[in-house]
Amino acid sequence: MDKLVSLCQRRGFIFPSSDIYGGLSGCWDYGPIGIELKRNVKEAWWRDIVQQRDDMVGVDTSILMNSRVWEASGHIASFKDPLVECKNCHLRWKADELKENKCPSCGGALTEERMFNTMFKTFIGPVEEDAAIVYLRPETAQGMFVNFQNVVNTARKRLPFGIAQQGSAFRNEITTGNFIYRVREFELMEFEYFVKPGTQDKWFEYWLNERYEWYQKLGIKKNHLKLHRKKKEDLAHYAIAGADIEYDFPMGWGELEGIASRGDFDLTQHAKTSGKSMEYFDDETKEHYVPYVVEPSLGVGRAILAFLCDAYDEETVNDELRVVFHFHRDIAPIKVAVLPLSRKENLAAFAKDVYDTLRPCFTTQYDDTQAIGRRYRRQDELGTPYCVTIDFQSLEDNMATIRERDSMNQIRVPVAALKNTLLAKLSGEDLFVLPEGGKIWKQGNDG
Ligand code: GAP
Repeated sequence: MDKLVSLCQRRGFIFPSSDIYGGLSGCWDYGPIGIELKRNVKEAWWRDIVQQRDDMVGVDTSILMNSRVWEASGHIASFKDPLVECKNCHLRWKADELKENKCPSCGGALTEERMFNTMFKTFIGPVEEDAAIVYLRPETAQGMFVNFQNVVNTARKRLPFGIAQQGSAFRNEITTGNFIYRVREFELMEFEYFVKPGTQDKWFEYWLNERYEWYQKLGIKKNHLKLHRKKKEDLAHYAIAGADIEYDFPMGWGELEGIASRGDFDLTQHAKTSGKSMEYFDDETKEHYVPYVVEPSLGVGRAILAFLCDAYDEETVNDELRVVFHFHRDIAPIKVAVLPLSRKENLAAFAKDVYDTLRPCFTTQYDDTQAIGRRYRRQDELGTPYCVTIDFQSLEDNMATIRERDSMNQIRVPVAALKNTLLAKLSGEDLFVLPEGGKIWKQGNDG
């Protein structure tokens, strides 16, 4: 983990928040490379969950909500952690995570347990009084529940269907740590899948399986994932069944994504508290009922940490250490780097033309600093799948070299075919495509 944290800082993935002031615990900033990685992870999820499915729609609801939402959802009463404090060093700990009844830091005695609500409070308007209290949402889910009827009335979806959302959430965690694993401000990607009561177990299993496969499709190794079905006593206050997809993080197995069968808890609670009906009219069976809900919920940072850990690799090449992120092409922050062999004017102009052709299609970097070997290493550390090298021969034959990150194989491709070749490779095809009118050819065939 230490190596990962330092590489992430050195290469512009992730920095401690408010770094120049000594940081703020549980808060992190994404740098120029990290933001590309984050956008790609969110986009992959949105594409697969919302855009590629007929039974899903997206929303983007506000972070601040009427406080009665949190009363109805049970968060004011139940979103609590058991807190203990060391009588000696005054560090605070989550009681249910301690192995022994003493302070893990100094061994001091601990206070009695007390329950601590982990929602952040703030105030609407200038007067800090009870009536003005609002909460920073600890989950995005409630924004989807309270919009259930709005979506049913406007999106013309029949059950089963889902509402999906990505957005910030805040939890005043007692202990944070393990880099971006447990933080106080994070983004969630979650959806509420509404089903006919009685069919929830089938859909729960369906989504467990879908979500488990999703990580593997994006390159996570199967043996680094496992499913943990929760016992009744470990379920959140709203759940009737639940399971976690766990990842083998450097500090051990930990929750990556939670999948909960929430029954009709939330819609029923909102109907009771607001006085508004949350029933659905099933026009096939002519019944009115409150749908049940299956909810897969994933922290963007947890997903990023799993993708970083899984892609990280060290190998020795020509007696030198090569550090590389083997990111899946959809996740890689930079897709292509254009590297002119020298800064000489005619070569630079040629390489800039190539760069201008590629950058509308891919997140592309232009790098003309240092020796070419060092530039390859730098791109390996960013996880860039393809480097395009322009050399003096390119000026003669209009060909460029594509260097592939994982195999380090190099192939010569006509400059006019670069864009289509990279487009094909970055869509997962193993073909090199010549410009219009040309033949399609495979690696090893130089005809
Ligand atoms: N709406 C359901 C819900 O929020 P959760 O299990 O409390 O469920 C869902 O959280 C996911 O959010 C977790 O599986 C994890 O990926 C992420 N998550 C939760 N707390 C987090 C924290 N303090 N820091 C980073 N990610 C967190």
